[in-house]
Amino acid sequence: MTIHIGARPGEIAETVLLPGDPYRAKWAAETFLKDAVQINQVRGMLGFTGTWNGNRVTIHGSGMGMPSLSIYVNELIRDYGAQTLIRIGSCGGMQEKVKVRDVILAMTASTLSTPSRGIFRDLNFAPSADWSLLRAAAAAAEAKGVPTHVGGIYSSDVFYDERPDLNEQMTRHGILGVEMEAAELYILAARYARRALAVLTVSDHLVTGEALPSADRERSFGDMVEIALEAAFA
Ligand code: HPA
Repeated sequence: MTIHIGARPGEIAETVLLPGDPYRAKWAAETFLKDAVQINQVRGMLGFTGTWNGNRVTIHGSGMGMPSLSIYVNELIRDYGAQTLIRIGSCGGMQEKVKVRDVILAMTASTLSTPSRGIFRDLNFAPSADWSLLRAAAAAAEAKGVPTHVGGIYSSDVFYDERPDLNEQMTRHGILGVEMEAAELYILAARYARRALAVLTVSDHLVTGEALPSADRERSFGDMVEIALEAAFA
């Protein structure tokens, strides 16, 4: 047990999928894993361990934003030995060519600040995905016929952004989408020599104003879970 995770030693798999929403973790575990067992419920943050194609997998909520994700990922890596960590979440589209429902594989995650800012101070570290996971996820998405973009994303600290000029600069510099967790995940994976990737579904669009109808969210989320699982065990 750690401060925020109630699982006993050995109850968390080396491969961990991280949706922001704990109820998405529950849905994904019930839908895609065999023999899923709940291994955490501290503060309502649900985690489940089961198997997918015979491989042990944990699906655990990260919460919203980098400070929350940082707590769970630190404990998953340092206390439970997680080796491969894949965020599965939603993002806002930032380019016209990126449509609602499309999948984005985050090659890099630009950011203004993360919980790791205290280490880097004035140095701009470049958080980036694990190449083997990125390559396998791109292959899995292509095989499924899911429209997919690979490139840079923006990990913001705010959903209700009072600096729309920053979003405009991100769009101007080719950033595909905005979310709130991937940069810290990539930094922690780099620090502890683990593999990490963020697989994202575009749920809304900052340029076109389009939004994914709630009835469609589940299906899009399912594609993302399958892409993440196939990448993890490729
Ligand atoms: N901003 C930040 N995070 C998000 C968004 C957004 O527009 N959409 C989904 N996650």
